[in-house]
Amino acid sequence: MQIIHTLDDLHCWRADNTDVALVPTMGNLHDGHLALVELARQHAARVVVSIFVNPLQFGPNEDFSRYPRTLEADCARLKAIGVDAVFSPDATELFPQPQRYHVEPPELANELCGAFRPGHFRGVATIVLKLLNLVQPRVAVFGRKDYQQLAIIRGLCADLNVPVQIVASDTVRADDGLALSSRNGFLSPTERAEAPRLYRLLGEIRQQLVDGKRNFSALENAAAQTLSEHGWRVDYIAIRTPVLELPVTADRQFVVLGAAHLGRTRLIDNIELTATKNL
Ligand code: PAJ
Repeated sequence: MQIIHTLDDLHCWRADNTDVALVPTMGNLHDGHLALVELARQHAARVVVSIFVNPLQFGPNEDFSRYPRTLEADCARLKAIGVDAVFSPDATELFPQPQRYHVEPPELANELCGAFRPGHFRGVATIVLKLLNLVQPRVAVFGRKDYQQLAIIRGLCADLNVPVQIVASDTVRADDGLALSSRNGFLSPTERAEAPRLYRLLGEIRQQLVDGKRNFSALENAAAQTLSEHGWRVDYIAIRTPVLELPVTADRQFVVLGAAHLGRTRLIDNIELTATKNL
């Protein structure tokens, strides 16, 4: 497995490897990331994983500086599962000067998580476009766990005619249902025991939708209330169409999304109403 730090070395590797799938990550890899790698392998002859904690997508009061950086352990895990290359550039390689041009995503970027993280999806879209331009993969794999991110990246590639196929991977969970996340490591033992409640409540909303309930805001508010009672600070619980539009109507499919803080840690999750994958 080749570990690549510079753009020059990336271009050399890319010249020798034509059929490439890219898995963009910020490192501190867990089994969710590895599932993306497995899916990538099914789609292309070579898999490259990028590891870069992207400063553009963190707000001033967010956890950029304490975000876990574990490059050595990450590379060992990727090597063990047969990844071909890791692209782990220094910030100075990607930003030889401060980024002047940014991707301006549509209104969706200001909703849901975007309402609580101004500029986040602009930063995500900008770095993803840079990575796609640098690696020029045929396929890029993203997780459904970050459902809004996936929707925005799909929109970005469609609207800007980025010649890449976006493939989505299902959310990998711990046995108690908690979606794996690099941020789970911040949770205290008590918070970790409480954390699966978010997914459980999203699942309860899903069941009520399956049962025909259509009082959307009542369902959202009740779940948010329950989380608050258990010590969470809720950003949102939201029922949306599979492409994250409003309004949801009786005859459409749904995704139920949530974001809430336990102590200093912000967790997100989502659940789709039907087995049909729309996004
Ligand atoms: P990161 O949080 O490291 O996630 C990298 C990829 O792994 C994303 O596509 C995310 O959706 C996926 N992922 C994370 N946890 C998962 C889980 N439990 N199951 C399945 N997939 C999971 O998302 C980012 O990094 C960044 O925003 C990035 C796209 C790399 C741009 O900086």
